[in-house]
Order: sequence, then C-alpha cells, then structure tokens
Amino acid sequence: MTAAAHKTIPELGSIRFENVTKKFGSITALDNVSVEFAANKINVLLGLSGSGKSTMLRHINGLNKPSTGDVWTLGTPVHSASPTTLRALRNNVGMIFQQFHLVESMSVLENVCTGKLGSLRGPRFGLWSYPRYVRENAMEQLARVGLADKAFQRAGTLSGGQQQRAAIARALIQRPTVLLADEPVASLDPLSSAGVIELLAQISREENLTVICSLHQVHIALEFADRIVGLNAGRVVLDRPAAGLTHNDVDGIYAPVPVDERVKIAV
Ligand SMILES: Nc1ncnc2c1ncn2[C@@H]1O[C@H](COP(=O)(O)OP(=O)(O)OP(=O)(O)O)[C@@H](O)[C@H]1O
Ligand SMILES: [Mg+2]
Repeated sequence: MTAAAHKTIPELGSIRFENVTKKFGSITALDNVSVEFAANKINVLLGLSGSGKSTMLRHINGLNKPSTGDVWTLGTPVHSASPTTLRALRNNVGMIFQQFHLVESMSVLENVCTGKLGSLRGPRFGLWSYPRYVRENAMEQLARVGLADKAFQRAGTLSGGQQQRAAIARALIQRPTVLLADEPVASLDPLSSAGVIELLAQISREENLTVICSLHQVHIALEFADRIVGLNAGRVVLDRPAAGLTHNDVDGIYAPVPVDERVKIAV
C-alpha cells in the first residue's frame, strides 16, 4: 500500500492544504503549504503583496489547482475534481472581492438575485425573471446587511461600503458554508472597513460560516480574526489563534524576501 493510501480524508466541514506547491512559470506562488483552516471561524490571511494570499483563496474553490499537493474543501478533493464537481462545490463557497464585482447598471436587488444563478436553470434577464422566493430571499439578505432601503437603486450609485455589503448579500443568498473574501476592505475608508468586517464576523457567528479573508490591515486582523495564517513568499510563516497575538508577533510575516530566492525555488 502506498503512503497516499494511508492519508485520512478530511472531515466534510474542513478546508485543508496538504503540501501544496503552485508554480506559475518560474514563480513559486505557494511553496509546500500545509494548513487546516478553522471551521465556523474567521480565518485571516496576512502577507506582503505577492505572498500568495489570492492564490491560496483561489485554490479553495478550484479556480487554481495545485502543481503538486492536495487541497480538500468540504470533503471535495479540489486537486483532482472534475468541472462538474467544482461547480457543485462552488454553490457552497461564496466569494467577495476588493472591487465588489457588482453589475453597476443593475438594481441592488437584482445583483443579489444573481448570486442564485448557480442553482437555477437557464439564463435570467431582469429582476422579474427570478422566482418570487429568490426575490424575497434577496430582500431578506439586503435587510440583513442594512441595505433594504437601497434595493431598487442602481448598484453603481452606492458607496463603496454599501457595494461591499450588497456583494456580501449576493454571496449569502447562495447559503454558502464557506465565504472567501479577497481583501474585502482594501478600497474602503477605515470606518466602512471596520463595518464590513464586523458584519462578516456577525454573519459568521449567526450562520456558522467559515470565513477565509485576506487583509492588509493588521489591526483589523488582530481585532476580528479567530485564526491568523501568515504567508511570506508562498510559505506559511505563522499559523496561530489570533487571541494573544500582538503586532510584534505579526511583524515577522512581513520580512522582505529576496526576489532571487523565489526564482531559485522554481528551478
Ligand atoms: N495567473 C497567474 N499567472 C502568473 N503569475 C501569477 C498568477 N497568479 C498569481 N501569480 C503570481 O503568484 C504570486 C502570488 O500572487 P498572489 O496574487 O496570490 O499574491 P497576493 O498575496 O494576493 O498579493 P496582493 O496582496 O498584491 O493581492 C505573485 O508573484 C503573482 O505575480
Ligand atoms: Mg491578492
């Protein structure tokens, strides 16, 4: 029997990276990463620009596949999953982005309804082409994120913080088990940033949602994260519960890495 045959299959709720290396040509974006994210908690990824945070998030829902190693998400072996299996997985994994990715000319409510497209058959054109239960649920999600009064406004007219809340509502309508957030507050002012992260923390608690969120703001990570994973040049350099961590502990994540070393790793 091979060593691989002895590996345990991770539990249904967990997200696990096992010896994951991801190369893009001569760049090693992830370098032998082994990590298990805490279920039903806020997990924050910290690291310098280019350290591999987005690449890591994209492995969780199969937008990237490892060059070597295994990624398990909610019991699915992402590293070897077929496109059909990945589509099914993505219904359980919501994602929000720095730039919100709303359709600005569409109403806020219709934007939220589009979050349901993955589980509806056929294309939809216009708000009224969605089943009533979807429209009602979209309204509920908007109320939850504090935007009920903006439902019929064009998304492009909202402030950045409001757009990110709408994007969260769009992700929630999928009823995901996992929410990936790639620098969700990078375009927001400090007050809106805290509001959006607070909302994510509240929803994570209410829904038992596993949140994995990349951030550049260490103070927000220390305040809201349950667990912090630090990446430096594609390697995990910190993986600890956030409670008790200080700015000093986190500073080490940001040590500069010579560019040559990353190229050397890839050869
Ligand atoms: N599709 C791709 N093709 C080539 N290189 C890529 C690709 N995606 C990522 N990379 C490289 O992989 C490395 C990690 O990138 P990644 O986007 O994951 O970093 P990051 O930590 O999210 O950075 P930032 O904080 O700037 O968003 C970078 O060197 C990047 O240029
Ligand atoms: Mg990124």
